[in-house]
Amino acid sequence: MTISGPGSRAAPKSTLNQTVDSPQPEASKGYFRHLKHGLQIGLLLAYLIPIAILIVFFDSRFNVTVRESSKLHLAAVVESQRNTIDLFMQKRIVNIFNLFHLRDFSLSPSQQEMDSYLSNLVQANDAFVDIGFFNPRGIQVGYAGPYPHLLDKDYTKEKWYMELISGRQSYVVSDLYLGLRLKPHFTIGVRQLIDGNHYVIRTSLDPDKLYTFLQTTSQGKSVDGFLINKEGLYQAVDPDFGRLLEPAVFIPPAGQRDDVVRITFNDTPMLVAYAWLKEVPWCLVMRQPLSMAYSEYYALRNTLIFGTAGLVLAIMFVIWFIVNLVIKWGESLERDRAELKSQLYHAHKLVSVGQLAGGVAHEINNPLAIIASEAGLIRDMLDPDLGLDSSPKALIKELNEIDKAVYRAKSITQKILSFVRKTDPKLVPSDVAQLLEEVVASVKEQEFKVSNINLERDYDPAVPHLMLDPDLIRQVFLNLVNNASDAIKEGDTITLSTRLDGGFVRVAVADTGEGMDAETLEKIFMPFYTSKEVGRGTGLGLPIALNIVEGMGGRMEVESARGKGSAFTVVLPVPKGSPGQG
Ligand SMILES: Nc1ncnc2c1ncn2[C@@H]1O[C@H](COP(=O)(O)OP(=O)(O)OP(=O)(O)O)[C@@H](O)[C@H]1O
Ligand SMILES: [Mg+2]
Repeated sequence: MTISGPGSRAAPKSTLNQTVDSPQPEASKGYFRHLKHGLQIGLLLAYLIPIAILIVFFDSRFNVTVRESSKLHLAAVVESQRNTIDLFMQKRIVNIFNLFHLRDFSLSPSQQEMDSYLSNLVQANDAFVDIGFFNPRGIQVGYAGPYPHLLDKDYTKEKWYMELISGRQSYVVSDLYLGLRLKPHFTIGVRQLIDGNHYVIRTSLDPDKLYTFLQTTSQGKSVDGFLINKEGLYQAVDPDFGRLLEPAVFIPPAGQRDDVVRITFNDTPMLVAYAWLKEVPWCLVMRQPLSMAYSEYYALRNTLIFGTAGLVLAIMFVIWFIVNLVIKWGESLERDRAELKSQLYHAHKLVSVGQLAGGVAHEINNPLAIIASEAGLIRDMLDPDLGLDSSPKALIKELNEIDKAVYRAKSITQKILSFVRKTDPKLVPSDVAQLLEEVVASVKEQEFKVSNINLERDYDPAVPHLMLDPDLIRQVFLNLVNNASDAIKEGDTITLSTRLDGGFVRVAVADTGEGMDAETLEKIFMPFYTSKEVGRGTGLGLPIALNIVEGMGGRMEVESARGKGSAFTVVLPVPKGSPGQG
């Protein structure tokens, strides 16, 4: 049970444990500081942990989605480009077919006619380089273009020519080759059966023009493409990236029509998508550096991250602000409560002073009454008519009684003064066990030996030195030891002990004496409460002790049971920074 000052009412119990506290404003500040930090950290964690988990989850999902979407995007780009190039090829084949099927097409075209055919073709597309017409013996009998020395050349051993003549299709598109002109080009050849003989028109196309076409139709700046044949040799490529007819950096796996894969080229990770053309046995490969492929998504992600971070910061600020507000409100409530408590404490003090005054009057009245009656007696003794014994010896005996009464009154007023006058204690580092020893050593110990009382010690070596006023604390211990020795009989035991308990030192004086019932326990801290006979106790010992202990920031606890004994414990704080703290 905890009471906040002498005289407060508590429910009676057979065994009571009383604690007398002093007001501790610092403790309440510390409590609010802890509460504030606990609330802020708790709320932040409660808010931040789910957000962090969500962010990690979404980020991992986001990465997977980004990879998938980038692949799908590049696959779509390569698909559309492949169709565009197929269309390009078909158109070029159709351009030549159209020429061949002109109604006025001559089987022995003049140079003028050949030149006009070429200009027709170049008008349709500037990739056309030249045009040639072959008689059924495979001799180029008509030619227009930049390589006139090809006229009258025999092409029957040329690969594309043999394929065209022996194949089922009436046209052929060759791979890139150097040929008689020693310059990379590719050929489209078309044959027509006239009167049982194969006549052929062929045209060559510039692969650089094909690449330019490829580039201009590419979607997105960071996507670049090239064409390779079945052997993996470049058929059209950015001259800064690779050289025509050389092996390509990437060759698609056999049997796969299209796919998107990741490769690293020149230490740059990139996405590569490929698709085989339908018109020509070539593969279109499109590449995109990963950083570019993911850039848009990551820009979006950064926006999301910064947005979320901003939101988190805003909410953290709101939490911090609200907690501060609530704590300030709590602190002001606590201040009001402390003020009320202090007012109550003062009111209580006033009551104590009233009781004190009553006690003083009562205690002083006794010696005054004795003095008055002794004075009357002496007057009577000196009256010769009454015939009383007025010898100096008889007079001195009565005067001695007056002296005793005066000394008693004086001792009472001295104790009252020490209770009422609050002097600041002079604190010095002190060893409580040593102070206890100073109290019991010599006189007391001798007394106990004579009365056959056991004195036991149980001192904790871990107890550090405390900042105490040794005179005052000795006064406290002396009263506790005196009270204990008044409560015991022969054969009983008094135990003195010290303990380090958290941030406190507990000094106990326990006895196996008569103990107290609940009713007595409630009154022992009231000034002038004593169960001792007149002249033996003033009832000021414990109130004074409590005043002193509270003045040093401590408190007192009592445990007692009728017939079993009592234990009075002085609980003193260990100063911060000393070895016992924490
Ligand atoms: N160890 C104890 N065992 C039993 N009763 C006790 C014990 N200590 C204190 N008391 C009770 O508390 C009362 C008040 O004690 P307190 O020390 O205030 O005054 P006192 O001892 O009676 O007088 P004084 O201390 O002035 O000589 C005692 O009279 C006694 O009834
Ligand atoms: Mg006493």
